[in-house]
Amino acid sequence: MSAPPSHKPPSDKPAPLSLTPRPGILEIEAYVGGKSKIAGRDKVMKLSSNESALGPSPRALEAYRKAAADMHRYPDGHSVALREAIGARFGFDPDRIVCGAGSDELLGLLGRAYAGPGDEVLYSEHGFLIYPIVAHSVGATPVKAGETNLTSDVDKLLAKVTPNTRLLYIANPNNPTGSYIPAAALARLRRELPEGVLLVIDAAYAEFVTANDYEAGGALVDASVDAGDNVVMTRTFSKIFAMGGMRLGWAYCPPRVADLLNRLRMPFSVSHATQAAGIAALEDVAFFSEARDHNETWRNWLINELRNLGYNVRPSAANFVLVQFAGGEAQAEAADKFLTSRGIIVRQVAKYGLPDCLRITIGLASEMRAVVAAFADFKKQA
Ligand SMILES: Cc1ncc(COP(=O)(O)O)c(C=O)c1O
Repeated sequence: MSAPPSHKPPSDKPAPLSLTPRPGILEIEAYVGGKSKIAGRDKVMKLSSNESALGPSPRALEAYRKAAADMHRYPDGHSVALREAIGARFGFDPDRIVCGAGSDELLGLLGRAYAGPGDEVLYSEHGFLIYPIVAHSVGATPVKAGETNLTSDVDKLLAKVTPNTRLLYIANPNNPTGSYIPAAALARLRRELPEGVLLVIDAAYAEFVTANDYEAGGALVDASVDAGDNVVMTRTFSKIFAMGGMRLGWAYCPPRVADLLNRLRMPFSVSHATQAAGIAALEDVAFFSEARDHNETWRNWLINELRNLGYNVRPSAANFVLVQFAGGEAQAEAADKFLTSRGIIVRQVAKYGLPDCLRITIGLASEMRAVVAAFADFKKQA
């Protein structure tokens, strides 16, 4: 019998004494996604990752199954049909759309394209955790600006700009607070930022917003063309299109920025099946509307019910709500434990500087009812 394969490095090559990673890498606190399991329980209600309550469109599933037959073929490295479908659906020039393996990939590529050691990357206090990860990954310094009432504050962001600022990432609406800033405030942010700072508008939750004073960012991108080329909007198929597991995001850019991203990106990061499912999801307009209506109905319902129970629930423009506990971190942890005992998984957000809060994704009607019942019982036993 032959010996089992060895995983040790070949002994004829001396192991390097020390491999030093580039500056910043060891500063990264690795991202931890929402929990999806509870020990000892087969069935759980996963409300921890802002996934869509209704799951994917049946048309997207069918396209995915069909695409399986071609898994031996490389995908279209330019995602042409997908970019055309996105452009047609949202009214954007497909040549200025770049697709990636989730919007995370594009947020990272923008950091690589524009920032490095000595540079600063600005974001707001309770902003999405990927922004400091991107900053450290390119050796730049992440800089946080304070918020007002758990909402991005244009003046506080502007006050943190220095000659070294290269990028400003703003999630609008923001995760995990659920707050957003209106189109006029976002336009003022762009106007008052130095021209040499790239404004990255992360609009992952744009499709859920129903407020009239909101604009996802496309108009600002268009206004920046040949006028600084300094606004990019990123979007995702992970939220309303319910394709988080497929990894598909896109950026809408000025032509110069699209060109840079196309040079930097790996050619085949968006698989053939993902492209096919994405196109089919875009075509299923009725399912999209259903997901949006469901979210609005149950988001309003959940906020009202929890407020009636006496909880401090923040307003939300997205597909999740944030509950802030008067009893602080200890009470948030106790509530999390109580919900877990009922099979309900929500998100602790201490890493976002909000240890006294829990974030709850809008789920199915039955899940929302279970959440409210659990919060009512938690209150009784507290
Ligand atoms: C604000 C924000 N931006 C971007 C993303 C990343 O989404 P994707 O799955 O497209 O990488 C998320 C995911 O939770 C998010 O909350």
